[in-house]
Amino acid sequence: MTAVNHLTDRNAFLLRGDGFAYALAVTPDGDLRHLHWGGPLEPDDVTGLLADDPREFGSNTWSSPRAHTEELVAHGGRRLDESALKVEFADGVRALDLAYRSHTISADQLTVRLADRHYPFAAELHYRVRGGALERWTMLVNDGDAPVVLDRAYSATWGLPWQPRWEATWLAGMYATETQVTRRPLGAGRLVLESRRGIPGHAAQPWLALDAGAGDEAGAVWSVAVAWSGSWRLAAELAHDGRLHVTAGVNDFDLRHPLAPGTSWTTPVTVGVYASAGHDDLTDRWHAYERRFVVPRPDVVRPVLYNGWEATFFDVRPESQLELARRAAGLGAELFVIDDGWFAGRKDESAGVGDWTPDPTAFPDGLQPLADEVHALGMRFGVWVEPEAVSPDSDLFRAHPDWIYQWPTRPRTLARQTHMLALSRPDVRTHLVEALNALLSSAPIDALKWDLNRPLTEASDGVGNGSVWLGHVEGFYEVLDRVRARHPDVWIESCASGGGRADLGVMARTEWVWPSDNTDALERLTIQHGYTYAHSPHTMMAWVTDSPTYLTKREIPLRFRFHSAMTGLLGIGGNLADWPQSALAEAAEYVAQYKQVRATVQYGVMRRLSGAPDDVTALSYRSPSGHQVAVFAFAPSVRHLRRTVQLRLRGLDPAAVYVDGATGTRYSGALLMHHGLRVGLVGDYASELVVLDRA
Ligand code: GLA
Repeated sequence: MTAVNHLTDRNAFLLRGDGFAYALAVTPDGDLRHLHWGGPLEPDDVTGLLADDPREFGSNTWSSPRAHTEELVAHGGRRLDESALKVEFADGVRALDLAYRSHTISADQLTVRLADRHYPFAAELHYRVRGGALERWTMLVNDGDAPVVLDRAYSATWGLPWQPRWEATWLAGMYATETQVTRRPLGAGRLVLESRRGIPGHAAQPWLALDAGAGDEAGAVWSVAVAWSGSWRLAAELAHDGRLHVTAGVNDFDLRHPLAPGTSWTTPVTVGVYASAGHDDLTDRWHAYERRFVVPRPDVVRPVLYNGWEATFFDVRPESQLELARRAAGLGAELFVIDDGWFAGRKDESAGVGDWTPDPTAFPDGLQPLADEVHALGMRFGVWVEPEAVSPDSDLFRAHPDWIYQWPTRPRTLARQTHMLALSRPDVRTHLVEALNALLSSAPIDALKWDLNRPLTEASDGVGNGSVWLGHVEGFYEVLDRVRARHPDVWIESCASGGGRADLGVMARTEWVWPSDNTDALERLTIQHGYTYAHSPHTMMAWVTDSPTYLTKREIPLRFRFHSAMTGLLGIGGNLADWPQSALAEAAEYVAQYKQVRATVQYGVMRRLSGAPDDVTALSYRSPSGHQVAVFAFAPSVRHLRRTVQLRLRGLDPAAVYVDGATGTRYSGALLMHHGLRVGLVGDYASELVVLDRA
């Protein structure tokens, strides 16, 4: 099967990936018409698609042509639906009139070039088949000798086929409450998910799924994500006749981006994933996409982490860190990270961010001695940084007060007592690359936790090369890419006050994400449940912290805390200096058990068996080879006389025999799938991990 077919006689294109097809055609008038996104089709089907023309239903008052029939909805004429592109030409004209010019096909990629019928301005639509996903983006080209201003430049519009009704699933939240699964029927009108914060933010993931009532195991689902680490927007517009289109990309909030003569701007990628067999199928496809095409080091099992933030907060001293490191190593941790508080001037939130040199009192000889000790304990060594922020009380800010986003006549907004460095500026980018390079060269540092604890406000960098909403993210990517290129062995975690920056753009440049500052193991179950709709568990860091947890003050037994964190990347973040020997010994057993199942958890096939709003959360992971199955079950409180739950597993081989290694009990796959695995959950905060091996 070729990924991209050009049906020359009909001037149509058919893109085919794993389980889906996508089709478009050039009309005799030179317009680009959307034909299909959904289940697989053959080239011969395109004739039928062309014969089925929904535009015959147009009326005088409607937006026309309707967005769902046009491949790119460019503002102009009667296109009064949500448009994907809006520009202003130098003469003040704000309407586009684009026509097909040419196309190129190479392997799994199609590029269609549209050009304005009057102005020297082009839009190149890019398509790339990536396994079960389709990537789309647009390059906007100013071929003229006058500037063009981009007012709105989404990556693409996704047209969905008619359904009798639509339901939307998205991942909403706020700080410490990220990725809560939210599901609602769509009515005629517009559902807008967005961030205006300059980072993807906590309020929603740049991800949306749409179906006509699909369940976990059945039903067609269409989903769209935006691979952009800044302000994004997803607008699902449903017409009363049941037609739906989703516009996806960079938010046009406050966007005015001048495109100088002879230059171009390329939008971020939007990714579309279609699944024919319900949300399980959709989850498998997103996880496979991230593993195969997005996240670095896809095949390397992630280490067990220790992070000292909740243990010591800003009180970072080498003696106490070393004591934590000894205990962490004793538990089986493989990476030791010192969080905020290690650098010059940092005693609390009020100072120091921007000066990435070790505190001279605590670390007179730099970080090397501590890094060496950590290495001697058999762990890798990492540090926390917040490169895009700067404290007013820092040497960097004193030297370069002009390097932040600010309006000359307006107050500067402090957030967590920092300003935002203007990474839209080339000089700031270079400074950061050098500062991080100096840090990473000063000691054997193996990992960075890259944080950002504020939104972008005052959207001006004083240099004015374009919209800083775009320039900041491009600068962030450039700095990350340059640092990674210089230090290819350094692993990076993405964090923004927890899960404020967990999008496909940053995931292409980091090994994992910190999904939430909320380390309450019960709260984490719902956060993690939602997270796995959009992202693979091999990017989902989870720590076991102290009880009661510092944010919620809830007390939870160690076993439940470990089991909750073992469903992703296990980390430990408690103050081990205070843990009794019995807890340390118990913890070491969980870490050892985790190492037995982690390849399955991180890279296996995941099934959410139950979860929020159910009071029992259960999930299973089947190893890629199918030989190991790990089943986790959690019940926060005793309800009535429930002492066991019967978990009907999914995705096993019904003919195979599975053995519970702990009890020796043998089950057929059919029994586990059709009748269920009985798991005991007795008492409050009951949790269980059952590991089954295929006989
Ligand atoms: C943010 C992060 C935390 C921690 C602190 C340090 O809140 O999300 O994990 O690193 O900053 O200040």
